[in-house]
Amino acid sequence: MQSSLPGCPGLTCLCPASVHSVALEMELLSLWLCLGFHFSTLQWRNGSGAATAVSPGGCQLMGVTVDCQGQNFVSVPTSLPPHSRVLILDANPLGTLWNHSLQPYPLLESLSLRSCQLVCIGYHAFQEQGHLRSLALADNSLSENYKETAAALHTLQGLQKLDLSGNSLTEDMAALMLQNLSSLEAVSLARNTLMRLDESVFEGLENLRELDLQRNYIFEIEGGAFDSLMELRHLNLAYNNLPCIVDFGLSQLHVLNVSYNSLEWFLASRQETTFELETLDLSHNQLLFFPLLPQCSKLHSLLLQDNNMGFYKDLYNTSSPQEMVAQFLLVDGNVTNVTTVNLWEEFASSDLSALRFLDMSQNQFQYLPDGFLKKMPSLAHLNLNRNCLASLHFREREPAGALAELDLSHNMLSELRLAPGLARCLGSLRLLNLSDNQLLGVPARLFADANNLTTIDLSHNQISLCPWPLPVQVPLPLPVPSMPANAPSCVDFRNMVSLKRLSLEGCGLRVFQDCAFQGTPLTHLDLSGNWGVLNGSMAPLRAVAPTLQALSLRNVGLSPASEKLDLSGFEHLRELDLSGNCLTSFPRLQGSPALRTLDLRRNRLTALPTRAEWAQVAGSLRAVYLSQNPYDCCGLDGRVAPPRLDTVADWAVVTCNLSSKVLRVAELPAGAPQGCKWERVDMGLLYLVLILPSCLTLLVACTVIFLTFKKPLLQVIKSRCHWSTIY
Ligand SMILES: *[C@@H]1O[C@H](CO)[C@@H](O)[C@H](O)[C@H]1NC(C)=O
Ligand SMILES: *[C@@H]1O[C@H](CO)[C@@H](O)[C@H](O)[C@H]1NC(C)=O
Ligand SMILES: *[C@@H]1O[C@H](CO)[C@@H](O)[C@H](O)[C@H]1NC(C)=O
Ligand SMILES: *[C@@H]1O[C@H](CO)[C@@H](O)[C@H](O)[C@H]1NC(C)=O
Ligand SMILES: *[C@@H]1O[C@H](CO)[C@@H](O)[C@H](O)[C@H]1NC(C)=O
Ligand SMILES: *[C@@H]1O[C@H](CO)[C@@H](O)[C@H](O)[C@H]1NC(C)=O
Ligand SMILES: *[C@@H]1O[C@H](CO)[C@@H](O)[C@H](O)[C@H]1NC(C)=O
Ligand SMILES: *[C@@H]1O[C@H](CO)[C@@H](O)[C@H](O)[C@H]1NC(C)=O
Ligand SMILES: *[C@@H]1O[C@H](CO)[C@@H](O)[C@H](O)[C@H]1NC(C)=O
Ligand SMILES: *[C@@H]1O[C@H](CO)[C@@H](O)[C@H](O)[C@H]1NC(C)=O
Repeated sequence: MQSSLPGCPGLTCLCPASVHSVALEMELLSLWLCLGFHFSTLQWRNGSGAATAVSPGGCQLMGVTVDCQGQNFVSVPTSLPPHSRVLILDANPLGTLWNHSLQPYPLLESLSLRSCQLVCIGYHAFQEQGHLRSLALADNSLSENYKETAAALHTLQGLQKLDLSGNSLTEDMAALMLQNLSSLEAVSLARNTLMRLDESVFEGLENLRELDLQRNYIFEIEGGAFDSLMELRHLNLAYNNLPCIVDFGLSQLHVLNVSYNSLEWFLASRQETTFELETLDLSHNQLLFFPLLPQCSKLHSLLLQDNNMGFYKDLYNTSSPQEMVAQFLLVDGNVTNVTTVNLWEEFASSDLSALRFLDMSQNQFQYLPDGFLKKMPSLAHLNLNRNCLASLHFREREPAGALAELDLSHNMLSELRLAPGLARCLGSLRLLNLSDNQLLGVPARLFADANNLTTIDLSHNQISLCPWPLPVQVPLPLPVPSMPANAPSCVDFRNMVSLKRLSLEGCGLRVFQDCAFQGTPLTHLDLSGNWGVLNGSMAPLRAVAPTLQALSLRNVGLSPASEKLDLSGFEHLRELDLSGNCLTSFPRLQGSPALRTLDLRRNRLTALPTRAEWAQVAGSLRAVYLSQNPYDCCGLDGRVAPPRLDTVADWAVVTCNLSSKVLRVAELPAGAPQGCKWERVDMGLLYLVLILPSCLTLLVACTVIFLTFKKPLLQVIKSRCHWSTIY
């Protein structure tokens, strides 16, 4: 059973040497599976699909579905329930699908043979499969005997879905395999080696609705290649090498995906017909200009992310970009046509009235031309993240009334302007992302108009909050020279009744007044990275205390003096981030009945919280983060296991300092002091080692002195007693 069959020689599928052994193996297998069949009859007879049983062959039976994935079968098992409708044989080393090997299952509607090392499908393999509607042959090597495989496929005249992805097929092989399969509705040729498509490849597939050609090497599509596909709705050409699409005329298409190619141009044909196109994905290409879209279309999603697009009025020194002209050379056989396109007129005449989602992020847009938003009255999501916009002007008669999400993050915006007299211009706006720009302020009217705004991200702009009441004598900050005269120099967040989430991370905010958020029912507030913003007291947040649910105070320089954070009044606060501050002990979080998450990483805590400190928050707390603090290993006596260890989300990486070493607290021997006993023993040894040489030196010195004086002494005694000796 384990031995794999040799591949088919040449272009035929006859493998004489192995036929005998296969027959033998199949006999054994059928005996084996028959037993299983016997045991599981009752279950799979229930056609509802509710019951699951496992046959000894390893196949899962679920109603009319038999799943034999990865069972090491070298041929189709013969003893599965004969009225199976769905057979999954993925990841079995079949090698070849032999003639008539599916004969026992005449009712099959769906067959999956992914990753079966198939090099060949016998001419008669599907002879009895009149009901087959779906066939998956992905990730095999069907290019090797493609002629016989193609002949086998031609017997499937009712097939609707065919997956041939990952088979190293060229366009000629694909054309042969698909020939005359007019019943097909969905075909995948993804991950093959198609390079050039002409009208012969998909000829006669008049019912095809979905065609997946992604991840091939297609660099050319001849005019007419898709002409016979009158029903085509979804075409995926992602990850190919297409350099441009001109004269795009597939008006029947609903979804076109040409992402991840090398497109420099997209130009729709200038027919008067209505295009059904709804979604166009041109992201990750090299487009230089906004695509020139059909003049009449139903487009609602346009994805242009990661291209090189811009508007180039400035380059041409004209007040309006009317003179921007591009010429296309259309070569068809020996006929060359020159098409002249006026880029601006083309843009102005493309139909964007149904557009709801527009992603223009990661491009080179420096400005949006007049009338841009006016062309898209239905636009709800506009993403302009990572461009080079320096200012944005909401003009009169350009209401953007449907806009719900506007992402302007990572630009160079120093100015947002609203035309005077523009009423309710951003009435539907819910999310405004202005993160990472160069704004000093936002026009007060912008927020006043946007009365559905729930989320504002102003992080990484050097803004200041408008003072209140306006100080009379305080000199205003010096105006920055390059700043337009009327650009606002502060932001006012008061009385924005719809605002829930506000990020002011890294805004260079200084200490602000208690009333800065008066009348604004914030639930999520991020003040991280504004060093010293709270000046050690929660007083400035008093106004939002009753509604606040999540508060981020990372890197705001909370000092040991602010350890007694008074959270009374913050009765709905669930998440508190105090990481990256200078706290030296567990903060006393008074009056925070709802606190669930507390982050204390990257502080200067030297001791884990005591039982009493835990007790204040024990009721509600679900997760506390304590790592990256310089705990003293020897000070951990009795505290190593906090009362509710499971709440310490990062307990495995909490470390402590033991002289010059850093140890994981969770790995300390039971009872932290032991670690320190070791330390004391170490120190004892150290003292011994230090003292021993001194002692030895002293001892040697004493001996030398003793010996030096010893000889004369003996001599003296000897000489004294010489005369009295008896020798
Ligand atoms: C058999 O099918 C019937 C309905 O077709 C269903 O109600 C019943 O639960 C199924 N029996 C089992 C064991 O799944
Ligand atoms: C299937 O049968 C045909 C003749 O009917 C034969 O030419 C072909 O080699 C057979 N294929 C396999 C895989 O046995
Ligand atoms: C496809 O159909 C055409 C005309 O119906 C026929 O001439 C041709 O032989 C068929 N090709 C195959 C491979 O069946
Ligand atoms: C286009 O295809 C790519 C690659 O498969 C995929 O990631 C992307 O989501 C597709 N775009 C659309 C709009 O479905
Ligand atoms: C645009 O006009 C300026 C002067 O107004 C001139 O210096 C510059 O060269 C012109 N650029 C082009 C591309 O014509
Ligand atoms: C070229 O122009 C002629 C006449 O305008 C037209 O019939 C023909 O289809 C065009 N060819 C191409 C490749 O656009
Ligand atoms: C273009 O090619 C066609 C045949 O494909 C030929 O009949 C015609 O004369 C050619 N025209 C020119 C101008 O070469
Ligand atoms: C704003 O944009 C930045 C960068 O693109 C992103 O990291 C951030 O999550 C966005 N903010 C919101 C609230 O979506
Ligand atoms: C910060 O607090 C200290 C003491 O509470 C106070 O003296 C000081 O004026 C405050 N600083 C600012 C800028 O409000
Ligand atoms: C603890 O050990 C870390 C890593 O060696 C060191 O950076 C830190 O200064 C030590 N802290 C103390 C208080 O000894």
